[in-house]
Amino acid sequence: MHRRIFAPGALAAASLLLAVPASAAGVTAGAPGIGDPYYPSYGNGGYDVSHYDLRLTYQPKTDELEGTATIEARTTQDLSSFDLDFLLDVSEVRVNGARAGFTTSDQHELVITPKTPLAKGAPVTVVVRYRAVPSTKSAYGFTTWHRTPDGAVAADEPEAAWWWFPSNDHPLDKATYDVSVAVPDGTQVISNGTLQSAASKLGWTRYNWRQNKPQATYLATLAIGRFDITTGTSEGGVPIVNAYSKDLGDNDGAARASVERTGELVDWLSGYFGPYPFSSAGGYVPNTTTGFALETQTRVYYSPRQFASGSNTSVVVHELAHQWYGDAVSLKGWKDIWINEGFARYAQWLWSEHEGEGTTQALADYVYGSHPADDAFWTVKPGDPSPDDQFDAAVYDRGALAIQALRNEIGDDAFFAILKGWPKEHAYGNASVADFRRYAEQVSGKPLSALFDTWLFQPSKPTASAARTASLAPRAKASVQPKSWRKVEATNDVHGG
Ligand code: TRP
Ligand code: ZN
Repeated sequence: MHRRIFAPGALAAASLLLAVPASAAGVTAGAPGIGDPYYPSYGNGGYDVSHYDLRLTYQPKTDELEGTATIEARTTQDLSSFDLDFLLDVSEVRVNGARAGFTTSDQHELVITPKTPLAKGAPVTVVVRYRAVPSTKSAYGFTTWHRTPDGAVAADEPEAAWWWFPSNDHPLDKATYDVSVAVPDGTQVISNGTLQSAASKLGWTRYNWRQNKPQATYLATLAIGRFDITTGTSEGGVPIVNAYSKDLGDNDGAARASVERTGELVDWLSGYFGPYPFSSAGGYVPNTTTGFALETQTRVYYSPRQFASGSNTSVVVHELAHQWYGDAVSLKGWKDIWINEGFARYAQWLWSEHEGEGTTQALADYVYGSHPADDAFWTVKPGDPSPDDQFDAAVYDRGALAIQALRNEIGDDAFFAILKGWPKEHAYGNASVADFRRYAEQVSGKPLSALFDTWLFQPSKPTASAARTASLAPRAKASVQPKSWRKVEATNDVHGG
């Protein structure tokens, strides 16, 4: 399950100690991290971004990316200097129109020193001009820039932006986006939101995509390649834009048979989660060799391998569920990942029940029964899993089990009210596991600390009596595997290559 050695957190923690200027009177340098203990160097301090305007050109043959990022932000403290998270080669930085000093590093920090310090609360416009071959850049020994035979894709979690635009790379700082990329005629560009225009001039076609709702940096995506784009509108009125690499080979049919059901599944999920929160929905399937799917906002990333054994609506449900749980409402810190993955997995369970392939209760019983007490599975705390186990199967499966335990404790009326109320309560913002517990207590009128502690925060298997209290079948046999099980679990194939 672990896709890389978790150097970013550890290494960055050490280097931060050296990087933070320790001047006693009036430290006005913006912090090089936003303060997330899982990833101390991710994001930055001292400002809040409202909009990213990316105007780029990409040449698939050589993997050359060049252009300008214009960032609209507001300072949250006096700033003598501040950081953006970025890995590419910068040629010029301007702050409020004036050329600024800057340094870059291979540890994703672009440090900018404006000509004159910035005052707290001031609007600021930052222009970064850059050019690079992203596939030659790595930080901490990894890359999230995925080359394809006909282009490239930027999609990963918890970081992907460093390889294509400078940002405050943490979900706490959400912003709107205009992504404009010129590519040689015959090549397509896929990104988030709605396609505003695509026009050809002198052999190059410029695609203009707009995300008009706040979006976390890791949910911004860019794909360049030869795509077949399909459009439509769901019965419920949500505009749909999907894209398929023209090079999907044997997986093409199954990919379309799955992703073309996006409109139907968005409408179905709206019944549980409330109105779809964005201006469009859809997915894209690039010709990558990765294995994962990712909930990139409005335009889900699907690896072709997700469809290697046939159509898969379960993974589509998972990624679409994230549009409410993870995208519209984002986590406050990466330790809150259960808010994303527990609920996306639970949506797959609801779909399983809808399809007659196993009820949510049967799936919960199976998770509980198929992992003996000494299984390492139970040592992962979904409510605070540690960076190493952030995407461990336990976050998903034990995470969804916890949701079934909650449902059984508070009853269906309160449970489904919470499921629908939560995305509205925190729409376009951020929230934590503790916020969710408080909200569930408020809606259900029940104290829930003990239940959350047992199912999300103990590094051990809840006892048979805890399971009985939560109306799970403590002796559920590992052999009673719900029909949907394999497909539901296959979503977790995040390994590359
Ligand atoms: N959030 C993704 C999902 O559950 C899975 C995921 C975890 C992932 N880590 C990743 C995807 C890294 C891509 C890269 O759908
Ligand atoms: Zn997920």
